[in-house]
Amino acid sequence: MFELKNATMIYDMDKEEKVYAMRNISLQLPDKGLVGIIGPSGSGKSTMMYTMSTMKNLTSGEILYNGKPITNIKESERQTLRRDEFGFIFQRHYLVPYLTAVENAVLAANCPKKEAVEKARKILLDIGLKKNELDKIPAKLSGGQRQRVAIARAMMNDPKVLFADEPTASLDHENAYLVMDRLREYAMERLVIVITHDHSILKSTDMTIEVWDGSVSAVKVPDATKIA
Ligand SMILES: Nc1ncnc2c1ncn2[C@@H]1O[C@H](COP(=O)(O)OP(=O)(O)O)[C@@H](O)[C@H]1O
Ligand SMILES: [Mg+2]
Repeated sequence: MFELKNATMIYDMDKEEKVYAMRNISLQLPDKGLVGIIGPSGSGKSTMMYTMSTMKNLTSGEILYNGKPITNIKESERQTLRRDEFGFIFQRHYLVPYLTAVENAVLAANCPKKEAVEKARKILLDIGLKKNELDKIPAKLSGGQRQRVAIARAMMNDPKVLFADEPTASLDHENAYLVMDRLREYAMERLVIVITHDHSILKSTDMTIEVWDGSVSAVKVPDATKIA
């Protein structure tokens, strides 16, 4: 699915103090499963996600998605990929404050409105929202419920790849585990890439990539027979 070849990303190329966020990273990700990217703050985790999801360009090297280079592709091609193939979850939920849980989830849908509303309700209930919470605005929901809405929104178009950047960082342990359970379930059929600096939420990943100062320091595959 994803292949990084000598992927390098340097911020502030034009300045004296260059920042190497990714140094010559080469690796291959499976077609499906739960992939964890772990490392301290500032080690380049988010940059990896941004370059893989075409939100940022590499400085040098290449990233292939299903065998096709996705570095330096046209803006219209990026948008299509992001809309139809990728889903995103961030540490902050970025929900629209004046829209209800269902309306927030529907926002990103690429299908007709009526169908989208039904689908949003189903996903939200599956993920642990209660019926009476579906029509509440974010301010009336708990932090855990808000993050579930953000996850439902990210899943609306059945993305082939779900990118989650510190999705549990603002949650308590109980909610963090519930969110991880849902992501693990989604990873049975699709690729889920979870960035974290918390080892405890990365139990039972199919692959764990450890990054340190822009480099991959280790790749761990607990059970190589389980992934494609
Ligand atoms: N927009 C930017 N401009 C300049 N430097 C940046 C920018 N974004 C990130 N960096 C730097 O790149 C390095 C990697 O950052 P990041 O990918 O955000 O790491 P992580 O997600 O692991 O915390 C850090 O040194 C960070 O300060
Ligand atoms: Mg980050």
